[in-house]
Amino acid sequence: MNFSLSTIGQPATPCYVYDMALLDRTLQAISTAAARYPNYRVHYAVKANANPRILSTIAAAGLGADCVSGGEVRAALEAGFPASEIVFAGVGKADWEIELGLEAGIFSFNVESLPELEVINELAAAHSVVARVALRVNPNVSAHTHAHITTGKAENKFGIALEHLTDVVLAAQQMNNVELVGLHFHIGSQLLVMDDYVALCSRVDEIQADFESKGIGPLEHINVGGGLGIDYDTPEANPIPNFDALFDTFAKHLHLREGQTLHFEPGRSVVGQCGALLTKVLYVKQGTAKQFAIVDAGFTELIRPALYGAHHAIRNISSSEPTEEYDVVGPICESSDTFAKGEPLPRCHRGDYLLLLSAGAYGEIMASGYNCRVMQEAIYI
Ligand code: LLP
Repeated sequence: MNFSLSTIGQPATPCYVYDMALLDRTLQAISTAAARYPNYRVHYAVKANANPRILSTIAAAGLGADCVSGGEVRAALEAGFPASEIVFAGVGKADWEIELGLEAGIFSFNVESLPELEVINELAAAHSVVARVALRVNPNVSAHTHAHITTGKAENKFGIALEHLTDVVLAAQQMNNVELVGLHFHIGSQLLVMDDYVALCSRVDEIQADFESKGIGPLEHINVGGGLGIDYDTPEANPIPNFDALFDTFAKHLHLREGQTLHFEPGRSVVGQCGALLTKVLYVKQGTAKQFAIVDAGFTELIRPALYGAHHAIRNISSSEPTEEYDVVGPICESSDTFAKGEPLPRCHRGDYLLLLSAGAYGEIMASGYNCRVMQEAIYI
């Protein structure tokens, strides 16, 4: 991680800063770790960051793309991801989005319900093509992460419930314009313990065994989604997530059937550590029992603290004075516009540059125009 005043300069703020060398090293780590398993394929989850320069760097490194909207499919194609490496998930695909995927000839639609499967079959028939589909299964496996970003429990809206799965498979086999090629899973995000993935492996195995007993399959591929977490607490110590551990866990615990490929959809772990939000201190304000560093970025630029109670490590790269504690807050007229409370930082002054680290994933892409706020162009170091 190479964020410092000398590498960044003195740009207009607030803006995102991307350490492209770190992104390259991360992509290299993914490729090296995955290359040990020739049947593994990695699709970058575009939702984490669709900045065109980031996307084209990831495409050039040879990853596929995981998209959740027509807009993401377009962005992925424009960035150079081959259509044959694009998977398209999402519980609510509109007709035009399905048609876009059909016209492009994507690798697979990850289908989340029977009504969606029926619409894909109809639209594919109208276009005289056969859509490749994987069924997204709700595996009812809990992930030990924030309630807002766990997705694989029975009560979540995602995927097809286990008790309906066989019926949907049989329905798919009766349809002329869909080809069932895989099963798709995703249990949640920011997973730091491999046990959750081990639990997923045994569920996948149960499903495959059940299929075999019914004479179904084996299907061409299994997609286990994304979710590998990053170190938000000490990002400088762990700039590159442990992809070896992720792939080894599946190699050890998932019993793939003959000829099956295994697909992954990491987002956060690919781009999280290479991005930071750069902001300037506008005012240091004394409260009665605390002091505030009021900065020129708010939840309009980085919503994760307000939305999930997430904490991003903060560095004052302009000061090396003794540490004091600050509530670091933005300019938006809402109390939730708080990045951190009681954050120890080298003494802050008006004009100091602060960095909120680990913001490369779900940072810039989740920015909003609330309060008609203006974000500056990202910079790349
Ligand atoms: N595949 C599927 C089907 C997903 O739903 C997601 C993320 C991913 C892959 C990528 O997961 P990752 O590797 O990034 O954990 N905005 C939240 C995170 C939402 C994740 C939603 N799904 C945050 O800022 O923490």
